[in-house]
Amino acid sequence: MQLGEALHRLASPAGRQDPYPAYAALRAHGPVVQLWPGGYAATGYDAIKALLREPRLAARGLPGGAAAGLIADSVLKADGPDHARIRRLTANAFSPRGSERLEETVTAHATALADRLAGLGRDGEPVDLMAEFAYPLTIRIIGSLLGVPADEHRRLRELAQRTTVVLEPLRPAGPAPEADRAARELEAYIGELIRLRRAAPEPDLITALVRAHDGDDAELSARELVANLVFLLLAGFESSANLLGNGLAALLDHPDLADRLRAEPGLADRYVEEVTRFDAPLQLTSRWAPETIEIDGLGTIARGSQLLILLGAGNHDPARFPVPDRFDPFRDAAPALSFGAGAHYCLGAALARLEARVALPLLLDRLPAMRRAGTATRRDRLTFRGWDNLPVTTGS
Ligand code: HEM
Repeated sequence: MQLGEALHRLASPAGRQDPYPAYAALRAHGPVVQLWPGGYAATGYDAIKALLREPRLAARGLPGGAAAGLIADSVLKADGPDHARIRRLTANAFSPRGSERLEETVTAHATALADRLAGLGRDGEPVDLMAEFAYPLTIRIIGSLLGVPADEHRRLRELAQRTTVVLEPLRPAGPAPEADRAARELEAYIGELIRLRRAAPEPDLITALVRAHDGDDAELSARELVANLVFLLLAGFESSANLLGNGLAALLDHPDLADRLRAEPGLADRYVEEVTRFDAPLQLTSRWAPETIEIDGLGTIARGSQLLILLGAGNHDPARFPVPDRFDPFRDAAPALSFGAGAHYCLGAALARLEARVALPLLLDRLPAMRRAGTATRRDRLTFRGWDNLPVTTGS
């Protein structure tokens, strides 16, 4: 397939439903391909790893608008010393040891939600795993860390989905008023929580970051305080909810593998790693070249170029993952690229893995007769890959 045709396919609704054939068609032209002058896409596993670890590439560089600006002012799009400063202030809350301490909390919430699902499905009516399990669970957990009330999960899900559309590549350039309105609403929501915590501190991340802003060293600007809290909230459930949904869909489609996990929950780590590889919740990120650079084996990237780093394509590179489209938790493979690499490696990786490691076997165990029911709908998104809804009957 010609390069232009492969790109066209990736940018189409069918490409967003199933991007893997388009990734393969792009990769056939090389691990890094030039899409247009100043625009590149990386699809090869080794190339993606090298680009994510390349200090001469910058993360910043999103177009304007309230939604894009909010994300641009967060740790995700910060570089150099600013990035290190913000990351240091937030990292404590997400350390692997800190995340492990949340195991009991995750188990308690997952158990309560699984039992509620069983109740909702008692009369044989389908129930939606995204709305009734994946989103409420992940919003409760990130909410407990940050200090955001979990009872607003439907509103937060909706605002996050509207805001993150600005992270979609290959969409028509120009203003995104819906996303901007949602971003302003999120800013106001977090702004109100900041005011409340300033008046009455709590043992949560909002309070810790308010102190970093208000302290003598003023380690965070007012803008960074709001932007990072909004980003942590969105990052903390958008991809994690999709990790749970993508994992549950894979297990529902492979009942033999689901039975094995039900019988041996100790295998959960393997399953979670394969879910993140097989159908990564965050399919891509981007980088920008402030200067012309030469990258070993990959050639010259001209100053001002944008790079689309297709993590999901790297995860399906047959050079690293034989028969990449097969879901196989027992493959002996390289680590997936789903949590990124280098300086921006996902801060929430330990927590997201914990949530999936607890929730997937727990749900299989408590709802052994769970089956897909009706038609599940995929989100019409490339970047955040997941399900709008995932209906099942619980058989209870
Ligand atoms: C508890 C849930 C999560 C939280 C709190 C979280 C938080 C974050 C934060 C703060 C960053 C920016 C780090 C930096 O720039 O230094 C980040 C980056 C990233 N996260 Fe997560 N994340 C979560 C779940 C996930 C999940 C489930 C995935 C996909 C499997 C994911 C994939 C990524 C990737 C690929 C990046 C790097 C983006 C880049 O290099 O440009 N995250 N995450």
